Amino acid sequence: MSLIPNPFRALVIGSSGTIGSAFVELLEQHPACMEVIGIHRNSANPIDYQDLSTIEAAAKAFSDKPPFQLIINTIGILHCADWMPEKKLDDLNAEQLQMLMQINAIGPGLTIKYFSKLLDSNNSVMATLSAKVGSIEDNRLGGWYSYRASKAALNMLIKTASIECSRTKPNNALVALHPGTVNSRLSKPFKGEQIGRPPLEAAQDMLNVLFTLGKEDSGSFITYSGERLPW
Ligand SMILES: NC(=O)c1ccc[n+]([C@@H]2O[C@H](COP(=O)([O-])OP(=O)(O)OC[C@H]3O[C@@H](n4cnc5c(N)ncnc54)[C@H](OP(=O)(O)O)[C@@H]3O)[C@@H](O)[C@H]2O)c1
Repeated sequence: MSLIPNPFRALVIGSSGTIGSAFVELLEQHPACMEVIGIHRNSANPIDYQDLSTIEAAAKAFSDKPPFQLIINTIGILHCADWMPEKKLDDLNAEQLQMLMQINAIGPGLTIKYFSKLLDSNNSVMATLSAKVGSIEDNRLGGWYSYRASKAALNMLIKTASIECSRTKPNNALVALHPGTVNSRLSKPFKGEQIGRPPLEAAQDMLNVLFTLGKEDSGSFITYSGERLPW
């Protein structure tokens, strides 16, 4: 049975991003969604993973509001102005690894810590966007050291939190969600425009999956098509 009730309130974290803004657009049109709030590093109640104290402050701003039945965190980076994903071991460097760990694992991990307190304890889902390349078992091509490692660390944080949550909040599900290759800022340098799917299509597929989740799905690594990925 779906954990997300009708009606529901939703929060999209990273709503300035390609996939984040697509989620907001779809949720604004969803008949059962009575309110959707989007936050990002330049919004009201900003959340900036380069200043980790903003996570608790942003969550606190919602603590006296009604709970959310759906929270989706889409924040993540693959490349920046200074570097691209590593092609070989010689490219591995501390600065890039630390940055990706902070934005893709530490930030989202602390977001689960503070924002899971805003979930409706009766029925709710919190999804964090991960990536299939973060699967250790599925790693066949190598490369992309920092991104892979940071998403693998994120996956462990989600899984571990889901185990604790299943004891304290048994009607909440925490999941890692793989969006597939989506045409976005993040995928642009990697032929994202040619091989990526339109963000609204990807976000719609992911919402469809989120609406099917039951509490037994907590702690899963799921794709946009509902397939379970190995950790
Ligand atoms: N696109 C794909 O093919 C693909 C595939 C697998 C997984 N994913 C995952 O999907 C998620 C969304 O990606 P996307 O394709 O929508 O990328 P995107 O368009 O680049 O959006 C990334 C989002 O992350 C935010 N962000 C980046 N650094 C931040 C920081 N220091 N603090 C706070 N927010 C920060 C961006 O905020 P600003 O707008 O302020 O920069 C933006 O909201 C990511 O977690 C990514 O790893 C994407």
